[in-house]
Amino acid sequence: MNIDPDPVSNIYPAVGGDEAFYQLVEEFYKGVESDPLLRPLYPKDLAEPKRSLALFMIQRTGGPGTYSQERGHPRMRARHLPFRITTKERDAWMRNMEAALDAVPALHPHRATLQEFFDNFSTFMINTPD
Ligand code: HEM
Repeated sequence: MNIDPDPVSNIYPAVGGDEAFYQLVEEFYKGVESDPLLRPLYPKDLAEPKRSLALFMIQRTGGPGTYSQERGHPRMRARHLPFRITTKERDAWMRNMEAALDAVPALHPHRATLQEFFDNFSTFMINTPD
């Protein structure tokens, strides 16, 4: 039985470094680049969104807090309010993230935990009715 109140924050120490998270983000944005629904939401240059998502995930999974040092409190729902996110954008985001998770073997031992985290978090980001 898993009684850890926050298994997500054990992932970074278990994986042992940044690499898997940068790989995850690369794979995720590969999908976004060719996603007709999501691509228009992001800026032309994806370098900054890639870095932000990697640093956020590193911090959230128990790694260094560079994300908050650079960008302050995550306030994720507020940061997403400028974008129209319905269940369609949410589902597209999840599809790309699930493909990215598949593509990073180092994260496979934590796949179920990450899946649940992203499922909940992406649903929380919905800010517009269908
Ligand atoms: C539900 C569908 C989602 C959509 C359509 C979406 C879309 C976006 C967009 C368009 C940006 C702005 C990129 C930029 O201009 O730099 C952004 C930023 C970001 N998103 Fe999402 N997102 C979604 C869900 C999520 C989830 C589930 C997470 C985390 C697990 C997340 C984490 C982030 C982070 C860390 C940033 C950068 C915020 C910052 O520091 O400026 N997003 N997202």
